[in-house]
Amino acid sequence: MGKTIIISNRLPVQLQINNGGINAVPSVGGLATGMKSVHSGSESLWIGWSGLTDEDIPAELEGDIDKALKKNGCAKVSLNAEEIDGFYYGFSNRTVWPLFHYFLEYSEFELNFWNVYKSVNQKFADAIIENSGEDDTIWVHDYQLMLVPQMVREKRPNTTIGFFLHIPFPSYEIFRTLPWREEILEGLLGSDLIGFHTYDYERHFLSSVRRLLGLEVSFNDVFMDNRVIKVDSFPMGIDYKKFKNAASSHKLENSEERSDLQMRLDSHKASAPDTKLILSIDRLDYSKGIAKRLNAFEYFLNKYPEYKEKVRLIILAVPSRSNVPQYQLLKKEIDELVGRINGEFSTVNWTPIWYFYRSMPFENLIDLYTNSDIAWLTPLRDGMNLVAKEYIATRTDKTGVLILSEMAGSAYEMNEALLINPNNFEEQADTLQKAINMPVEEQISRNTFLQNRLERYNVEVWANEFMNALNQKRELGHAFISQ
Ligand code: ADP
Ligand code: G6P
Repeated sequence: MGKTIIISNRLPVQLQINNGGINAVPSVGGLATGMKSVHSGSESLWIGWSGLTDEDIPAELEGDIDKALKKNGCAKVSLNAEEIDGFYYGFSNRTVWPLFHYFLEYSEFELNFWNVYKSVNQKFADAIIENSGEDDTIWVHDYQLMLVPQMVREKRPNTTIGFFLHIPFPSYEIFRTLPWREEILEGLLGSDLIGFHTYDYERHFLSSVRRLLGLEVSFNDVFMDNRVIKVDSFPMGIDYKKFKNAASSHKLENSEERSDLQMRLDSHKASAPDTKLILSIDRLDYSKGIAKRLNAFEYFLNKYPEYKEKVRLIILAVPSRSNVPQYQLLKKEIDELVGRINGEFSTVNWTPIWYFYRSMPFENLIDLYTNSDIAWLTPLRDGMNLVAKEYIATRTDKTGVLILSEMAGSAYEMNEALLINPNNFEEQADTLQKAINMPVEEQISRNTFLQNRLERYNVEVWANEFMNALNQKRELGHAFISQ
């Protein structure tokens, strides 16, 4: 058997040009952070977009770009600004992302976006053919590349292809509104194995396949031409040890090198030892429910005024897809909400919300996770939400309370968290009050279950289960054809 080729739009590193040189910075987002752990421990090649358009790259830096990527086990698909507009900002993030997250009103059905999406998917498929042999196993990731499996299959009918979707697959009633719904399904069905985070996403996909393509579906097998395509759910885990170890060594390091952020957190603790820190970390995305969370926080402060000066909400929002109008509007909305709530409730000694709009180094994420009494994550829809898992993994003394939206894929595996409906402010205010007052023994008991599960079903196990199912499928698939 050959090597594994991972293919996704976003690579584990993003290249930037700084002072005439190339800088590689880690990518943010569940796909990149999760798959990075799988990739670094293997011989795989990861193909994707470098983060720079052709227009950004001076000819003399071409070689350096390839070298920087090679150092990280990656190879690039070159894309120009027009392609990024139509494919990434366009079809991927103005059509599919909102639709698959049930934001129908944000979803734009533009023929031009679709045409660019097709041609860029063909570029990715060509890059796979160019960089792989017949025996290699191809693992395609996420909604930006849903046509790739079929495009590779056309040229390499016997290659083993897996596809994993990192976002929700919506119900048939939502999916059917997409003008190019059949093409998307056929693109995905070029795979041998299609994986989703949850059983519900799998079920929605199979229902669309049956109803829109009229294909035979038996249990979780789809029969198409002379092939059987397996569809299954594989909830993605995290690199549990990495987060646990970082949190343990972080404690030891505290007495020596402290980050600025850690110093600020220390001085917060010293000046207000009884104040609870409530943390939320997300990309700045409307699917994450950040605006509703802020409204719910305001509702909480009005309903339970005794917690004024006793809680602080830290909002860390990472800039994301800032060329898409909905993201620009959201940024403005959140800036205003934070300003309004802070203006309304601040006292001489207390600012209720600390708001950071930036990406942060890994060490600072650990600072935040380990110093926060509560993590409050309220996506309106989320394929998985790895931040919830990362918070729990860093709680080395097993204290801490996770409040998690039931609309996140991770809620299916995290029953011991306090699960909430992000649209219900009353419930959220009461849940915050419960979290603030949760006895330490209860926190430890809940987190013990959560940690054991996360440690067992970590990202390595997730990747192995997917790859084992794909390899099994290869054998079974061939048996079916020869019958
Ligand atoms: P999504 O994939 O939609 O962005 P997830 O919660 O699944 O949501 O994954 C987000 C990933 O990005 C996590 O692994 C998290 O550690 C990382 N991340 C989130 N915020 C930041 C930040 N400010 N700086 C660096 N990494 C971040
Ligand atoms: C989600 C998607 C990923 C994407 C990430 C960050 O996790 O499932 O495919 O890479 O968000 O978004 P971006 O648009 O910056 O790649």
